[in-house]
Amino acid sequence: MFEAKPKAKRLGWAVVGCGWVARDYVIPALQGASNARLVALCDANAEALMRIPADDVNRYTALGSVLADKDVQAVYIATPNHLHAAMTEACAAAGKHVLCEKPMAVTPREGLRMVSACQRAGVHYATAFDQRHHAAHRKLRTLVKEGVLGTITQARIHYACWLPEDWTPDNWRIDPEQAGGGAMIDLAPHGLDLLEVILGDEWESLTAMTQRRVHCYAVDDGAVLMGQFKSGALGLLQVAYNCPDAYPRRTLELIGTRARALAYKTMGQTPGGSLSLIDAKTGEETWVPLSPEEDRSPFLQQVEVFSTCVLEGRPQPFAPERDVRLVGLLTQATQAGKAFPPCH
Ligand SMILES: NC(=O)c1ccc[n+]([C@@H]2O[C@H](COP(=O)([O-])OP(=O)(O)OC[C@H]3O[C@@H](n4cnc5c(N)ncnc54)[C@H](O)[C@@H]3O)[C@@H](O)[C@H]2O)c1
Repeated sequence: MFEAKPKAKRLGWAVVGCGWVARDYVIPALQGASNARLVALCDANAEALMRIPADDVNRYTALGSVLADKDVQAVYIATPNHLHAAMTEACAAAGKHVLCEKPMAVTPREGLRMVSACQRAGVHYATAFDQRHHAAHRKLRTLVKEGVLGTITQARIHYACWLPEDWTPDNWRIDPEQAGGGAMIDLAPHGLDLLEVILGDEWESLTAMTQRRVHCYAVDDGAVLMGQFKSGALGLLQVAYNCPDAYPRRTLELIGTRARALAYKTMGQTPGGSLSLIDAKTGEETWVPLSPEEDRSPFLQQVEVFSTCVLEGRPQPFAPERDVRLVGLLTQATQAGKAFPPCH
């Protein structure tokens, strides 16, 4: 006789905001995760809510109903940026753990409020920096740690897209009130986080220049950010809403004294892409293989890591105060009061 295996523990999740990122990446990840269970969906737009294919989930149009649902232990917040802070505070007050999309908040003050609310309530908080969970980026972290690249002198990221005005019916990304900014606040948080994680370093300084070059939006349509890490390495991020999608625009390059690493098409929401190294002495390029077992959805990896920490009562890999520091860094790098030239 076989003994019945004890049922694996699964964390009960709700997703709040069932738009692009939730529909295409977060919800499939929660449905496929070994230690998570999707129990509820919430969107203020009933049509968006009903469009999500999912069986046996509760569907709500208001956050209050999610908070009253006893099966919900953790909430993935995927609403427009200006709602992150108040929603996190409400979830924490109801005893729900929170994994919140980037940017964590629009101001560091909001970020601090989120962290204290979660600490007061004794719930876990993490910002959804999915890209640090990509297999190529995890491999890069190991290579840097093992010294394969030698001393890292410079790091460069180009992460950009073309964002037309009618990208979504309600394109909140170009509304400063809802987004808190433009291409810079939307796209730069990934690179700011990722380079710290891969280099095992911390930004010491950051300056930025923004532009409104192509799209006549009330927010920037491109930015270049430049800074220095505590180690002395320099970092450069190029982000944009004005970069044609046909160009190579998802690249991460690390220059080291022993090797140069290039991750191509690894930034973004999906697994895949490539990772190569050029040897400093021979100039020879080698490709770093990523096995299919390693190269899973970064969102799947992310929800499994978060759920494991909650279920096992372990702290999340990064303290939330660090995420507030990154929001602060981005805010101070923004050119306060900068007026864009008139649209032509
Ligand atoms: N990690 C990533 O790669 C990634 C990718 C895309 C978006 N994001 C982040 O995810 C968040 C959502 O972006 P998106 O592209 O999915 O936006 P979206 O506009 O496609 O979806 C947002 C959804 O939130 C819903 N919503 C708005 N107000 C609500 C409320 N009060 N209660 C419940 N639902 C509400 C909207 O109806 C919409 O369905 C943003 O913070 C964005 O920065 C992250």
